[in-house]
Amino acid sequence: MPNTIAGFSKLSKEEKINWITAAYFSNPQEAISILKNYWNSDEKLQKLHDEFIENTISNFYIPLGVAPNFLINGKYNSIPMAIEESSVVAAASKAAKFWSTRGGFKATVINTEKIGQVHFIFKGDVTKLTSFFAQTKTKFYTNTESITKNMQKRGGGILDIELRDKTNLLPNYYQLHATFETKDSMGANFINSCLEQFAKTLKEEAQNYDSFSEEEKDIEVVMSILSNYVPNCIVRAEVSCPVEDLAEKHIENPKAFVERFIRAIQIAEVEPFRAVTHNKGIMNGIDAVVLATGNDFRAVEAGIHAYASRNGSYSSLSHAKIENDIFTFWLEVPLALGTVGGLTSLHPLVKLSLEMLENPSAKELMQFVAVAGLAQNFAALRSLTTTGIQDGHMKMHLNNILNQFEANDEERVLIRKHFKHHVVSHSAVVEYIETLRRTV
Ligand code: MEV
Repeated sequence: MPNTIAGFSKLSKEEKINWITAAYFSNPQEAISILKNYWNSDEKLQKLHDEFIENTISNFYIPLGVAPNFLINGKYNSIPMAIEESSVVAAASKAAKFWSTRGGFKATVINTEKIGQVHFIFKGDVTKLTSFFAQTKTKFYTNTESITKNMQKRGGGILDIELRDKTNLLPNYYQLHATFETKDSMGANFINSCLEQFAKTLKEEAQNYDSFSEEEKDIEVVMSILSNYVPNCIVRAEVSCPVEDLAEKHIENPKAFVERFIRAIQIAEVEPFRAVTHNKGIMNGIDAVVLATGNDFRAVEAGIHAYASRNGSYSSLSHAKIENDIFTFWLEVPLALGTVGGLTSLHPLVKLSLEMLENPSAKELMQFVAVAGLAQNFAALRSLTTTGIQDGHMKMHLNNILNQFEANDEERVLIRKHFKHHVVSHSAVVEYIETLRRTV
């Protein structure tokens, strides 16, 4: 029997939980108790979270950590990071500290243009469509004035609208390709509202355009939606220092270190299998800050990976070089972020994260996020090209294993002491816990 239900969304939260636990769990009471354990005792706060999405049954926690000591453009910052993966915050903090004594991070926003498109089908003469668009273009602006008024006051608005002929890709397929400046908001609602008005204007004006035949007047709008690919909304983060200044505990020979580090990047530049993992490490930093600041990490992920493939093959987002004995390591990524609107004023932890960053503008947030990505990439490559990743990783993972086995304080002390001098692996830790417990 399939477990289906009509009108689930109309049930109360209790009823939803009762149905889902009865349908899927061998021990519904236990499932109910787990779900309720994660409810917030502050009813107002719980209601706020319940209403972020639909059919809410509980809260799903992800830790919020902090990576301090980030020297960025000459100023120290503490970066909030929401992430479930152990080692990421530790790695960011380590990289921050490392670079704080070597000039810190430099970050620059290169441009901030957002994109949206009206995708439509026009069956007819393209020269007529081109003249129609030229004559109608101002109408797209005037008809969206009520939407753009406030954004214009903040210095943003519609930058341009182009007619794009895409018939070489798909028969009769055209676009209105529009660009926007959305200042401190991510701009999704603003852009989509403008686009839906463009679509309306497009259809209405086509009906009144005398040079069009009846078939040409009948423009079919397929959809109007922003693009999460924003290759002209780019931020650059960089670190650099004389090669010899890189000397440290695991970097006895800085020149050899840097050469191997650059080689690792060159591999990610040419080899997609490595590039994906390399960029995943960058996204560990980027997503964690994007999430902590209430931004849309799916949009950021999709856009960044498209950017990583912009030259036809998936490649590294970061690059490095040595010039005149100066090592430079940098990345450029597209980031459409907001510090107003959306979750930013709703989610108490998002507000707190933004306050920790001293209430940044969207441009400043782009810089923090890019720096977190670069720091993460530096930490990963540094480990990979020196000690190997598992050394630090498994030490952090040890905690998760100890929690999984509900190790008590005494066991934790003994286990940590033992694994200071032994290689941590899941099976080795389990075996050791079992031995300990057998001998007690
Ligand atoms: C793990 O989350 C991220 C790394 O795999 C990144 C990399 O390989 O560069 C360590």
